[in-house]
Amino acid sequence: MSSTNLFSAGRIDGFATPNRIVMAPMTRSRASNEVPSELAIEYYSQRATAGLIISEGTAPSAMGIGYARTPGIYTAEQIAAWKKITDGVHAKGGRIFLQIMHVGRIAHSANRSIPDAPVAPSAIRAAGKMWTDTQMMQDNDLPRALETAEIPGVIAEYAQATRNALEAGFDGVELHAASGYLPMQFLSTGSNHRTDQYGGSVENRIRFVVETLQAMSAAAGGASKVGIKLSPGMAFNDIQDDNPVETYTELVKAISPLGLAYLHVMRSAEPANILGLLRPLFNGPFIAGGGFDLASGNEILREGGADFVAYGRFYISNPDLVARFENGAALAEADASTFYMPGPAGYIDYPAL
Ligand SMILES: Cc1cc2nc3c(=O)[nH]c(=O)nc-3n(C[C@H](O)[C@H](O)[C@H](O)COP(=O)(O)O)c2cc1C
Repeated sequence: MSSTNLFSAGRIDGFATPNRIVMAPMTRSRASNEVPSELAIEYYSQRATAGLIISEGTAPSAMGIGYARTPGIYTAEQIAAWKKITDGVHAKGGRIFLQIMHVGRIAHSANRSIPDAPVAPSAIRAAGKMWTDTQMMQDNDLPRALETAEIPGVIAEYAQATRNALEAGFDGVELHAASGYLPMQFLSTGSNHRTDQYGGSVENRIRFVVETLQAMSAAAGGASKVGIKLSPGMAFNDIQDDNPVETYTELVKAISPLGLAYLHVMRSAEPANILGLLRPLFNGPFIAGGGFDLASGNEILREGGADFVAYGRFYISNPDLVARFENGAALAEADASTFYMPGPAGYIDYPAL
């Protein structure tokens, strides 16, 4: 038991955080032409009292985009747009990491600016449909399997995106290795049928993530500006893994010595107690997420089960979540119909108390 709670000061890499409350990364689909919208300046600035903001998933390349109206960090125009956002957050005293998200096989051509088929560890289409603005709901595209010789180039995109993020003023970057996107497609037996050094054994399936983190760390001038998000056992986006406990135990053991900014784990119903299993394997700040509220967030910190707690949906409708938690105030309900709708409604119009 410790006296740490959500309002205790914390530390990530070289900076202090005024509290242990993290805004979880959330895609909000307000970008146009893969450039974040001006509305995002206001949206993120409104939430700057969080101990740390993690941005919406942002693509390292045009190939990494799969959803409608999502942003990238690979052109000068995108970097300039993000710079206004990080300036806005910093002016309000906040801290913000960029989440780098390559969708892999979770993509539809109508949402992309390039004609190329999406890439993935193996040429296996993900079951499920996604929204497109021109053709409404569509099946995910059939991906092309990456050649072994192409993989260093994909990893290099993450490294360049890291450099671009720091140029845009972000305090660090998070590798999105959760929710069934490219890194998780490599980790999981259902989507990775490769026979080269990136598939088969658990050592091989974790290789893409480990090498990507190493490349991002080198690009950032140190691993302490690089975090990672995992979601062991999550079935979202047609992900299936024969043994998530083994996969994530081995992965976390492999990345623990790197000196990363943090490990962020979103829990699912299965495997049970994944946070308790992974926490002792990681030497560094640990962010727990997935269905926490005020009481359960304070409880996991008090018990030493995490150093920070990430909140997703509450942050959509409560820009002043820290103050509301501190005052025991009522929380506003988020309207799911505007999660991914273009425009300001349901985005920057949730009031602070
Ligand atoms: C609208 C919405 C968009 C999301 N987009 C992302 C994303 O881009 N990257 C990511 O890692 N997680 C994403 N998530 C998952 C959240 O980061 C978080 O892990 C999840 O909502 C569970 O936390 P909660 O129960 O506090 O909402 C998204 C969640 C929501 C509700």
